[in-house]
Amino acid sequence: MKHSTIHDCHLMDIRKYSDNRGYLSVVEGQTDIPFDIKRIYYLYMVPEVARGAHAHKQLQQLLIATSGSVDVIVDDGTNKQTFHLDRPWKGLYIPAGLWRDLENFSGGTVLLCLASEPYNPDDYIRDYNEFVNNIH
Ligand code: TYD
Repeated sequence: MKHSTIHDCHLMDIRKYSDNRGYLSVVEGQTDIPFDIKRIYYLYMVPEVARGAHAHKQLQQLLIATSGSVDVIVDDGTNKQTFHLDRPWKGLYIPAGLWRDLENFSGGTVLLCLASEPYNPDDYIRDYNEFVNNIH
């Protein structure tokens, strides 16, 4: 597993272009974010539950609440930080090697995830103790 700290995680303003037709935002791999986008997926119609609760060994991601809002709690095994995503131009970059919990989805939230790798269940660590043991 790659080792990162919560300080490697950051909120970014996604490029936006606006005129009298409204707004357009764009994320280009390797230009706006430090990885090629190999996969996108999105969470929607999420009831009052928490999701996430895992770490990735190699996967990097950019999370965007294109609609609604959600709290992303990032944890490096020592420190935690909560990022509130509530604007379609706010992106949260999460490098590999951090635990994340997704909580407090507001009604109608669409959480878009841009990912650096194709889906690989072996890249997931779903047990928190295993995650912490991997770090130390
Ligand atoms: P899961 O990893 O449990 O969601 P969360 O991000 O909230 O932890 O994924 C839910 C289901 O979707 C699970 O059966 C695996 C499947 N899935 C894919 O097939 N491909 C993907 O790219 C992703 C993200 C999930």
